Amino acid sequence: MKVLATVAEALAQSRAKLPRVVVPTMGALHKAHLELIRVARNYAGRDGEVAVSIFVNPLQFEPGSDYERYPRPDRQDEELCRNADVNLLFRPSPAEMYADDRSVFVEETSLSNTLEGKSRPGHFRGVCTVVAKLFNILAPDAAVFGEKDFQQLVIIRRMVRDLNFKIDIVGVPTVRENDGLACSSRNQYLNVEERKQATALRRALLAAADRTKAGEESAKTIVDLARKTIGQASLARIDYVDLVDAKNLLPIEVVRPNSLLALAVFFGQTRLIDNILVG
Ligand code: PAF
Repeated sequence: MKVLATVAEALAQSRAKLPRVVVPTMGALHKAHLELIRVARNYAGRDGEVAVSIFVNPLQFEPGSDYERYPRPDRQDEELCRNADVNLLFRPSPAEMYADDRSVFVEETSLSNTLEGKSRPGHFRGVCTVVAKLFNILAPDAAVFGEKDFQQLVIIRRMVRDLNFKIDIVGVPTVRENDGLACSSRNQYLNVEERKQATALRRALLAAADRTKAGEESAKTIVDLARKTIGQASLARIDYVDLVDAKNLLPIEVVRPNSLLALAVFFGQTRLIDNILVG
């Protein structure tokens, strides 16, 4: 496995092995990342190349969030990539990625207005900017993203379409712990009690999905049910629970095919997100 720390080194890499499939990450790798890497290898084949980027992107953390304390287990991440048969690990520093006088950003202006974008202003501008840069630096044929960050996936597909990146975007279903909690690098912030109660998120999503399967069409009823289920966890503080159209991410009042129930909930200082397709 080649480990590259500079943009110049990455740009100088020949793309002898094709296709090249990239898995953009912020590190603190866990089993969901390993699933993304597995899907990337599957796409690349034995003769192709799997590249993982690890970069905790300051641009996508809003002021006062967890940028400083975001976990950075560098050695362990490198070891995991090696064991997962990754060909290339790109791990730049913030100074390497961003000039002090940077003044060009990539901004999606429609899909970013709801859900995470509403709660975290500037977040998707940061995500789009760094992903566009990673695409230019690593020149992949395909890139793999998890569906836990459903809105991110939809926005990146839009960016690729609107800016004509010749890159296939592959979505991977959310990987969960045995009790249903979606895998996330932030789960490690949870204390024992918070971790126990965090299972309410998946329960809420499943209860809501069951209700829609049983014929309920009112978005308000579905959202209320999810909120009530989460409310049973005494430590949960809901940021949002919203039902939106999975294509344009706009709120809907009546459940229809391809609707997305998405939520963000705090346990203590830790903010968790999850979602499910319903309808
Ligand atoms: O999903 C993530 O881990 C990040 O948002 C990404 C795509 C690596 C961009 O920093």
